[in-house]
Amino acid sequence: MSLSRIDRLANAERSHDTFVYVAAVIAAFNGLLFGFDTGVVSGALIYIEQSFGLSTFMEQVVASSVLVGAMVGAMTGGRLADRFGRRRLTLASSVLFFVGSLGMGLAPSLWSLIALRGITGLGVGVASIIGPLYISEMAPPDVRGSLGFLQQLMVTLGILLAYGINYVFAPNFLGIIGWRWMLGFGALPAVALGVGMYFLPESPRWLVENGRIDEARDVLSRMRARDDVDEEIEQIEQVSEKESEGSAADLLQPWIRPALTVGIGLAILQQVSGINTILYYAPTILTNIGLGNIASLFGTVGIGVVNVVMTCVAIYLVDRVGRRPLLLVGTGGMTLMLGVLGLGFYLPGLSGIIGYVTLASMILYVAFFAIGLGPVFWLLISEIFPLRLRGSGEGVSSFFNWTANLLVSLTFLSLIQRFGEAVGFWTLGVFSLAAVAFIYFRVPETMGRSLEEIESDLQENTVVGADERGAQADNPD
Ligand code: GLC
Repeated sequence: MSLSRIDRLANAERSHDTFVYVAAVIAAFNGLLFGFDTGVVSGALIYIEQSFGLSTFMEQVVASSVLVGAMVGAMTGGRLADRFGRRRLTLASSVLFFVGSLGMGLAPSLWSLIALRGITGLGVGVASIIGPLYISEMAPPDVRGSLGFLQQLMVTLGILLAYGINYVFAPNFLGIIGWRWMLGFGALPAVALGVGMYFLPESPRWLVENGRIDEARDVLSRMRARDDVDEEIEQIEQVSEKESEGSAADLLQPWIRPALTVGIGLAILQQVSGINTILYYAPTILTNIGLGNIASLFGTVGIGVVNVVMTCVAIYLVDRVGRRPLLLVGTGGMTLMLGVLGLGFYLPGLSGIIGYVTLASMILYVAFFAIGLGPVFWLLISEIFPLRLRGSGEGVSSFFNWTANLLVSLTFLSLIQRFGEAVGFWTLGVFSLAAVAFIYFRVPETMGRSLEEIESDLQENTVVGADERGAQADNPD
């Protein structure tokens, strides 16, 4: 009886948090732009080719200029977020998105297109860290995981939107070649992000960090829909007082090293286990299996939908079962599916049963990615770094993610040309298996803990969740 009353009270309190949800959805438009701008090029490339007649090398330059921009955006964005605040940086990046997208739509030459894609990439890099960062600093601990996943949900929706837009505007629209519409379309969500963010307040944690306690209190009471936020403010203050002024070099301090290892390790493993090659290869593989063009198009959209749907499942689970179980099940499943996928290509003839097993393993691979490594990586890097270094720590991790993404995009094609698809997918499988081991031994559980608790665990030289896995000596120094 009394329990249900408590439940009701808790629910009543929850329902007042609507503002947090609105803020999270707006901030997650960062994710939508990240997904859209990275996803849109595969379809646009065919038509850009028609306009400018690209060599394979130039095709790769066009495709990857966004990744180079993202590397720079992620590297500098973290420090800028710490210095100028989360809100102002988001406003600035929405301008980059807007100018970049509109400019690409109107680009007079190939080189201007490449440069503008680089500028959009800067926005993508910034968006990849600022969305999760802002959301995690706004959210109450009990729903921080779910809200943090909104960003990745919007990434997957952005990719799906890109597939849709590519379809609508191909081969041309109103007499203008399709790629201009496709790339230019990104200006619309950029406006939504900029306008939405304009009306949102700065992150309360950043405000405390910069001595603006009264403003922080205002923001927090709005977010929590109650006035007694002093305890939370105090907690943030305590942590921020304990720390000296942080610089990116401070990330190398011994007590931060475990967090840095997790951030960079997961960043690299998320990419070298091949998600973007699978997303990119989907149409080709589906046609190899013997599906017609239209059927492979639907198959590709199907993969995009599975990516979205499984991310929703992850949102439901992340604050219930925790980050580690999702990561372990996810990477375990990915490893298995990559093994099967490679086998499909290894066996003679991709038709009949083998074809369908290959197709199923591809879809399941994406499902396993979407339930674990996809969203949890972006969430964890917004949780594990100490307040003063949160922007920088997230920036460095994200930088490694984009760098690994670029390296995989530039080498996977040659790998399979030389050694065949089977070896290619098995190689990804080996990296995915390495991810399982890395997660098992290194990645802490952060579910239900406040960011300050996670931080003091690190301070005390313990690994969060170590008690669940048995005592574990960590931190080499
Ligand atoms: C994650 C990855 C990104 C990938 C996306 C697919 O956000 O970081 O590279 O394209 O998931 O859903």
